[in-house]
Amino acid sequence: MCGIVGFAGKDGAKEKVIDGLKRLEYRGYDSAGIALPINGKIEIRKHVGEIANLEKIIQDDDFDSSIGIGHTRWATHGAPSDVNSHPHANRDNSIAIVHNGIIENYIELKAWLSSDYGIKFKSDTDSEVIAHLIGIYYDGDLHQAVNKAVEQMRGAYAIAAIAADEPDKIVAVRKDAPLVAGQGDGFNFIASDIPAMLKYVRSVYFIENNETVVLTKDSIRIYNEEGKIVKRELYHVSWNADAAEKDGYDHFMMKEIHEQPKAIEETLVRRLNPDDSINLDGISMTKEDLEQFNKIYIVACGTAYHAGLVGKLTIERMAAIPVEVDVASEFRYREPFIDDKTLFIAISQSGETLDTLEALREAKKKGARVLSVVNVVGSSVARESDDVFYTWAGPEIAVASTKAYTTQLICMYLIALYMGRTKGLVDDTRYESILSELKALPAKVESILNNKKKIESIARKYYKREKVFFVGRGLDSGVSFEGSLKLKEISYINSFAIAAGELKHGTIALMEEDALVFALATQDFLYEKMVSNVKEIAARGARIIGVAKEGRKELAEITDEVIYIPEADDIVTPVLAVVPLQLFAYYVAKERGCNIDKPKNLAKSVTVE
Ligand code: G6P
Repeated sequence: MCGIVGFAGKDGAKEKVIDGLKRLEYRGYDSAGIALPINGKIEIRKHVGEIANLEKIIQDDDFDSSIGIGHTRWATHGAPSDVNSHPHANRDNSIAIVHNGIIENYIELKAWLSSDYGIKFKSDTDSEVIAHLIGIYYDGDLHQAVNKAVEQMRGAYAIAAIAADEPDKIVAVRKDAPLVAGQGDGFNFIASDIPAMLKYVRSVYFIENNETVVLTKDSIRIYNEEGKIVKRELYHVSWNADAAEKDGYDHFMMKEIHEQPKAIEETLVRRLNPDDSINLDGISMTKEDLEQFNKIYIVACGTAYHAGLVGKLTIERMAAIPVEVDVASEFRYREPFIDDKTLFIAISQSGETLDTLEALREAKKKGARVLSVVNVVGSSVARESDDVFYTWAGPEIAVASTKAYTTQLICMYLIALYMGRTKGLVDDTRYESILSELKALPAKVESILNNKKKIESIARKYYKREKVFFVGRGLDSGVSFEGSLKLKEISYINSFAIAAGELKHGTIALMEEDALVFALATQDFLYEKMVSNVKEIAARGARIIGVAKEGRKELAEITDEVIYIPEADDIVTPVLAVVPLQLFAYYVAKERGCNIDKPKNLAKSVTVE
């Protein structure tokens, strides 16, 4: 988390850095700051809260320069405050840094810097040690000083540093936190992510772990750990800056909910050949590899983990391989049974989530084959995987994930279908039928979106409820978890999801009149069982909103409201059932006056453990 930006050009660094920070706010918004070298000194301005607060304090002064670095923070060490905001400087303000990540040995380094150099620390952050370390090694060469400082640091970092005595240069370094350099005409950028610079550049270099970048207005030099210059291919970004604009919607989340039909179609089209076979371009896994897998682990975090829950049932049903799904932070510290017959599937929108990345590395070390489902091209998860299935959702800005989830589901279906067909378990008729169901999804999602007024009015009726449950069976159970997460992350309502059949083992004790329950009943083969579960809930007095396929009248008789989704094969209904839940969460958060795109305490990209 945290976003860093650096700009080196002829002039106008303030505007470029602030603009870049605004596009990185999804990475954290506890505070923001900027440092510019001006007249032989480094000037720093920083402020707690969103970037708008920082803009207010810098708008009137003639504070500007030809280069600068900036930061938007998601607090880890030290509360959100002006003093804990980045950039941090060394003792005489001759060096300033911005940092994304965690310096794990900062306590040790702090003690050493205080005792041996008498340094007094101003902030409670781990990051401040970096500025002082560079400061003590600096003798006119920032590049060398950064290299020496890095040798003493343990942890994860993307750092950008400037020195008052070298006002034309930014030195940046990466270890386990994303960093991209952007090449312009007479200016260059360094940033945590591409959107920060997309308004100005289209050609980028992805920086690898343990590489250092020295950036001036005319050059980008990348050095490896041994200090040797690295030759790197430029990557051309095909999407444009508009994809990261709100386009007339009040919030990115609503815009992204509406982009789902297009994103689903794009994700499908990219993996289908004209004869409807699955296109495996760029995938090195052979039929023989596939046949020898006897176990699959799907590992992810947050919403991506919920896509994995649906993926598990789908792959098991179509390809008859046992699949275990785990959250990455747990998977890393258990003893999974991995060998060369294990397929490890990582799912990640950003491709930078540290727990997912570390779980992937662990699995790879033990011999697993790694396939990832990723949205951000060139991200760390994508680069470290054997094979990648991209979701073509485009940039997702709202912290609450929507279009990334539905496109992750599409990838899960394609992977399951491919495996099932290769193993001879999905015959031609079933294959064609599922494929036509998948192709029909964009129009069906569109029809749910056209009916959003109904969901808005339901949200208006129930937005004051403080206890909301999501229940379902089979694939609906996985979707329940996602519906509950959406609601709690943006409206701060205490929400809980559980498999409907498990209710009677404890949670039903909470099903009283103050409870609101979303009952998902889209699985035909489990429909009657679900109806019984709903009756058990209704008997305890809770309010119930059902979600079912068109025409399932029984549910209407025993619930307070029913949201119908279009008729579809059971296997693909998660893509449809989740949409009303996304809309419900959105409208409830709106009624409650919450900050929908930037909910409190969260960040979109979680690059710390
Ligand atoms: C954060 C985000 C979630 C996301 C999760 C995993 O918690 O707020 O929306 O699902 O990280 O992120 P990833 O980029 O790996 O999918």
